[in-house]
Amino acid sequence: MRPQPYLVPKPVRGRIARPQPQGLPIINMGYNELPYPPTPQVAGALAQVSQRLGSYGAPTCDPLRVALADTWGLSADRIICGNGSEELLDVIARNFVRAGDEIVISQNGYIQFELTAHRLGARVKKAPERDFRTDIDALLATVGPDTRLIFLANPNNPTGTMIPAAELARLTEALPARVALVLDLAYGEFAGEDYCADVHALASGHDNVIVTRTFSKAFGLAGTRVGWADAPEWMLPGFYAARGMGSVNALAQACAVAALSDIAIIRDRVAEILSERDRLAQDLRALGLNLLDSSSNFLMVSTGDPDRTEALVEHLFDGCGIIVNRTREAGLEDYMRFSLSLPDHNDLLLDGVRRFLDAT
Ligand SMILES: Cc1ncc(COP(=O)(O)O)c(C=O)c1O
Repeated sequence: MRPQPYLVPKPVRGRIARPQPQGLPIINMGYNELPYPPTPQVAGALAQVSQRLGSYGAPTCDPLRVALADTWGLSADRIICGNGSEELLDVIARNFVRAGDEIVISQNGYIQFELTAHRLGARVKKAPERDFRTDIDALLATVGPDTRLIFLANPNNPTGTMIPAAELARLTEALPARVALVLDLAYGEFAGEDYCADVHALASGHDNVIVTRTFSKAFGLAGTRVGWADAPEWMLPGFYAARGMGSVNALAQACAVAALSDIAIIRDRVAEILSERDRLAQDLRALGLNLLDSSSNFLMVSTGDPDRTEALVEHLFDGCGIIVNRTREAGLEDYMRFSLSLPDHNDLLLDGVRRFLDAT
C-alpha cells in the first residue's frame, strides 16, 4: 500500500536542456522577464533588509498595500499580496471552485489558468477566440450553470493580444453575479496605466470582480515573487485563509515598496521595452515572418510551419545562445514567443533570425 496521489505530473514542456554548443553566454528571452538591474531604491532596500533577516515580513504586507494604494489610487483595504500573482490565482480558485466545477477561460488563455483548474480537479471550458483575441460573446455563451470562475488575462500570455476596457465592461455587466471574474493584468503596465485604471474601476463597481497584478513584469522583480490582487473586501478573509501566512517574504516586500518609489525609472524602462518591441516587430515582419499585434513586452512570431519554427528556435540557441519559448499549445504550433530585452540582445536575435532565413 502507498498513499494515493490525486495529481498526475504535468508533461514538462520542451525546453532546450543541452549545453550551449559554442559556450556562448545564455540570454533567456523565454520567460517574459525584464532585463534591467535593481533600481537604486531597490538596491538600497535590499542592502538594508539583508541586515534584518531574522525578522518575518508583515503577514498582511501593510506598508506594501499602502504604497500600492497610493501609487495606483486604490483602497489598501481591498488589496492582498501573494507569492507572485500565480499564488493568488490559486488562492482565488480555491475559494470559489471545487472538484467537478467549471472554470471558463479564453481559447489561448494563460497556461496557469488550466494548471490551477487541474490542481483542484475542476473542468476547463474554453471560449473560442477571433483572430487570437478574446471574444466576449463567446465567453458569455460558454458560461453554464456549473461555472464558478472566469480567468481572463489582458494582455494575454502567450498571444500578447488584449481587448478594450469597454469590452471588459460589457462582460462584467452581462456576467451572472454568482460567477467570480478574475481580470489578470500581469502585463497591464505595457498596455498603459489608463487601461489598468479602467480595469480597476470595473472591479470596484462589482462584487464578483477581482484584478490581479504583479511585480514580475514591468517592475522587473520576478525573482522576488510578489503579486497582488484588488478584490471586493468581503473576499479577503477567505483569501487570507487560503494563502500561506508568510507568503511574501521580508526581502520581497521591501523590494516591492522600493520599486514603487522608483516608478519614474520603471516607466522609462517600460517605454524602452515598448519601443524595442515595435522596432523588432517591424523588422521581423519585413523579413517575412507572421506576428500578432502585441500589447505586451513580448512577441509571438510564426514562420508558417511548425518544423521550421522548431528549427529557428534551435538555431537561435545554437548560434546566439538565445532561449525563446516554443509555443506548442493546440493552434499555436507554428509560433514561438520571446520577450524584448536590451537593444543589444534584441539585435542579436534579429541577426540570428536573418541568418536562419538566409540559410534555409
Ligand atoms: C498572464 C500571466 N499572469 C500571471 C503570471 C504570473 O506571474 P507571477 O506569478 O510572477 O506574478 C504570468 C507569468 O508569466 C502571466 O504570464
